[in-house]
Amino acid sequence: MQNDSNFTFVLFGGTGDLSMRKILPALFEAHRGGMLAEGGKIVAVARAAEDRDAYLDWVNEHVKPHVSKNGVDDAVWKGFLARFVYVRLDLGKPEDFKLLRDAVNELGGTRVFYLATGPSLFVPICRALADVGLNENARIVLEKPLGYDLKSSKAINDAVGEIFAEEQIYRIDHYLGKEPVQNLLALRFGNALFEPLWRREWVESIQITIAEELGVEARGDFYDNTGALRDMVQNHLLQLLSIVTMEPPHSMDSDSVRDEKLRVLRALKPVDPRDISKVAVRGQYHAGVIKGTSVPAYATEKGVRPDSHTETFVALKVEIENWRWAGVPFFLRTGKRLADRTAEIVVNFRPVPHSALGGTALRAGANRLVIRLQPNETIRLYCLAKQPGEGMNLASVHLDLAFDKFFKEGQMEAYQRLLLDVINGRLALFVRRDEQEAAWRYVEPILDEWAASQKPPKPYASGTWGPAAASAMLAQHGTCWLEEEN
Ligand code: BG6
Repeated sequence: MQNDSNFTFVLFGGTGDLSMRKILPALFEAHRGGMLAEGGKIVAVARAAEDRDAYLDWVNEHVKPHVSKNGVDDAVWKGFLARFVYVRLDLGKPEDFKLLRDAVNELGGTRVFYLATGPSLFVPICRALADVGLNENARIVLEKPLGYDLKSSKAINDAVGEIFAEEQIYRIDHYLGKEPVQNLLALRFGNALFEPLWRREWVESIQITIAEELGVEARGDFYDNTGALRDMVQNHLLQLLSIVTMEPPHSMDSDSVRDEKLRVLRALKPVDPRDISKVAVRGQYHAGVIKGTSVPAYATEKGVRPDSHTETFVALKVEIENWRWAGVPFFLRTGKRLADRTAEIVVNFRPVPHSALGGTALRAGANRLVIRLQPNETIRLYCLAKQPGEGMNLASVHLDLAFDKFFKEGQMEAYQRLLLDVINGRLALFVRRDEQEAAWRYVEPILDEWAASQKPPKPYASGTWGPAAASAMLAQHGTCWLEEEN
């Protein structure tokens, strides 16, 4: 879809890791797909490159490898490079922002400022933009992490909010841009079939897992001051939970969806610090083997303190205090260096109230919906069926929807969708301030308890599914993680 909205996309942190791996490749894909207005420009802002030529050399060397998996047509690539303007800028020098203002004022269209920088730079950059009048008629994109806790997140939001109105602020949670997450909305609100069952009367428990095989990679320093609760739970997992459990919005406009998500986040049952060991498990990976490859312990990764208590794994039991969900346990889990890379939602429906078919009611593998978000997006409905032949013997079978078989093309990367949404002024997939603060409010007692505790996180060997305590937590509710059934 060719887009008519002309734009000037200003990228702070133009030579950073995120720009290289995600933002510029996503803009390239949008360019290649003809989704960007012809006159749209990318103003890269950095200090490292001397001038535009040097910057383009950097793009050729570092960005091209991330897009070339689909092959790159030379003419298309040249057209992409032609969109670039480069401004060398030292954040500490107000006069450099005047150069930026002059460059931006020469260009037309919607102004987008993307801050692909550390959060400590958000406020100084916003203030410097305001000093040269660049905050008018502009959109600002903030990457996570936005703050370290509720207080620091409020401080950033207050300061940015003095310069930009809420509807100018696009807070990224890239999970919201993922195709399968969009599909969750389609599944829930496009089909009448599931809605009557999507409640406490019929749902026994729900699991949401985001598991990674990767460790902390080159981000040891950042990660060691962050941990899995801040890195994954406060944002991605709680956003997924709110989409799975929200009430049907009245429309898909940005505030209708975000209002419903907020209601869920506000209804999360606060964690009582005395119960912390019953509802929260934290772990840290030790050395191990993942799919045949030996990997080192977290504590020996570059940038990590050898005696670190930072968690690389979290499992939580969450409850939602409203009529739809009261009493249903939600088990959330995420971790690095686990046995497999997967993100999935498992909805366990209640078993039949009386098994007229005799025999032991087969619980495992029936009355269950598994929504696999990645890799290989699939929706799988498990039911019981009669085994062929004599007698009434039941077996677990499943109905499958594999998205790549159904829709052969057209999948869009999360960042591409989100960047197009920013350019086109669509806020629905961005996190509103009140949602973000409600999520911080929920995780904060857990963060505080863990920070105060002298106990280290529970160890787990890389290549496993985390500490045994995470399984014990589910066993208390008569259930287990999906992979433990197989
Ligand atoms: C990021 C986290 O937000 O999400 C990373 O900071 C994590 O630590 C990543 O690896 C996972 O995203 P995805 O899209 O690969 O599941």
